[in-house]
Amino acid sequence: MLALSLQLGATAKAVAFVMAGRSLSDVLQDGSVVKPDLRAGVQALSFAVLRNWGMARALRELLAPREPMPPVDALLCTALALLVSEPDSGASYTDFTLVNQAVDAAKAHSKTRTSSSFINATLRRFLREREALMQQVLQNEEAQYNHPQWWIDQLRREQPHKWQAILAANQMKPSLSLRVNLAKTTLVAFTELLAEQAVALQGAESTLAQTKLDKGCGLVLQDAPPVPSLPHYAEGWFSVQDVAAQGAANQLLSDEFLLALVARAKQGHKIRVLDACAAPGGKTTHLIERLLQAFAHAGMPVLSGEDWGKHFEVIALEVDAKRAKRIHENLSRLKQRATVKIVDAVNVANWWDGVPFDAVLLDAPCTASGIVRRHPDVRWLRRESDADAMGQLQLLMLQSLWAALRLHGRLLYATCSVFEAEGAVVKQRFLQVQSNAKALDSHGLWLPSSQHDGFYDALFEKTPA
Ligand SMILES: C[S@@+](CC[C@H](N)C(=O)[O-])C[C@H]1O[C@@H](n2cnc3c(N)ncnc32)[C@H](O)[C@@H]1O
Repeated sequence: MLALSLQLGATAKAVAFVMAGRSLSDVLQDGSVVKPDLRAGVQALSFAVLRNWGMARALRELLAPREPMPPVDALLCTALALLVSEPDSGASYTDFTLVNQAVDAAKAHSKTRTSSSFINATLRRFLREREALMQQVLQNEEAQYNHPQWWIDQLRREQPHKWQAILAANQMKPSLSLRVNLAKTTLVAFTELLAEQAVALQGAESTLAQTKLDKGCGLVLQDAPPVPSLPHYAEGWFSVQDVAAQGAANQLLSDEFLLALVARAKQGHKIRVLDACAAPGGKTTHLIERLLQAFAHAGMPVLSGEDWGKHFEVIALEVDAKRAKRIHENLSRLKQRATVKIVDAVNVANWWDGVPFDAVLLDAPCTASGIVRRHPDVRWLRRESDADAMGQLQLLMLQSLWAALRLHGRLLYATCSVFEAEGAVVKQRFLQVQSNAKALDSHGLWLPSSQHDGFYDALFEKTPA
């Protein structure tokens, strides 16, 4: 096993980069910051540190009011965050080992003994006075909730009764959720296969009921076994997808709307579905699964290569070429087809052939404030003005894509944010300016919980003007 001191040194460096504005996934992939052999350990430690950074920073301010040099500060805060983190965060060392290893990491970093002695003295004082110090810092909301103060204030304004539950859910470890491919198997059959492998589900019944899906296909696992070890992964019997995110394709291509689309296809129209912000393709493949299922059910199965494109076409847009590769990988595992275009969805004239779409999914870029469990760096990377700026971009995207939707077609706008500026506000503004848009029932805001991420969706139908 690699020495903890090496991992602590690299974690402190990685977290310092996050605080300077780089995303953790980007930093972890950067070999000049984190060596590949340290990556897995540093990722686990960084997650725990970022989830406890508010508390760690407040403790450091109390213990050492004069800010130490940045590398020393980062290492000290890293060690403090791990000392206060929940025992289930992967730690397999005692507090004293952690302190000794942090001191070793400081020695490795600097030739003089000043920093290591300072870290040693500060951390040992923390261990001695822990209770009193913790009492004192809990007066500070950033320390108590481990989110920036502006984030806490904004949530409190928008969700006066639920803000604390949202912040608490953001501190949880995310669950592993699967979307069963109902074009290949049934929910019951797949659940039985999981049971044979002794894979336990978290309140499966309530998950399905909660999601209000037409046909629930979401399962939340109790643990996180390696995904490829689960039944028929290579054959595409399931995909990894959060349960709230699964609501997007289920609501856009609801059973009722699919019946209308199949009827239209029977009249000789090819059904056209657009996924405007598609990478890595989680929702593109779900849209295709629902189409396959509906056509098969109507006795118009799409099985062979030639039949693809006979009844429907799915177009997936993505502005980022690197991310677009992931769409191809996902399509290939599931043996599905879609037309993938690397374009900016807003410039409709650049990619649209003028043939209107029956259904459009806009899973828009956002602050990701709903997926803080999975990306604990997000809260420290965002700024207060970001949600408004993203909301304006989302409205622009919504208006641009609206032109490509046919009369009586449907568009689902979605974000993985819990802030109103990237949800209800965009919906309201859009309805104000778009006289031929009618809001249909949809789930709306999904607050993050132990079972799913935070998410927002709004469904529109194009009506005569
Ligand atoms: C929320 S993610 C989409 C997740 C995806 N729908 C899924 O379920 O797997 C948003 C995606 O939109 C892409 N994007 C951002 N701006 C875009 C634009 N103007 N045109 C097309 N794609 C864009 C981002 O690169 C990102 O991959």
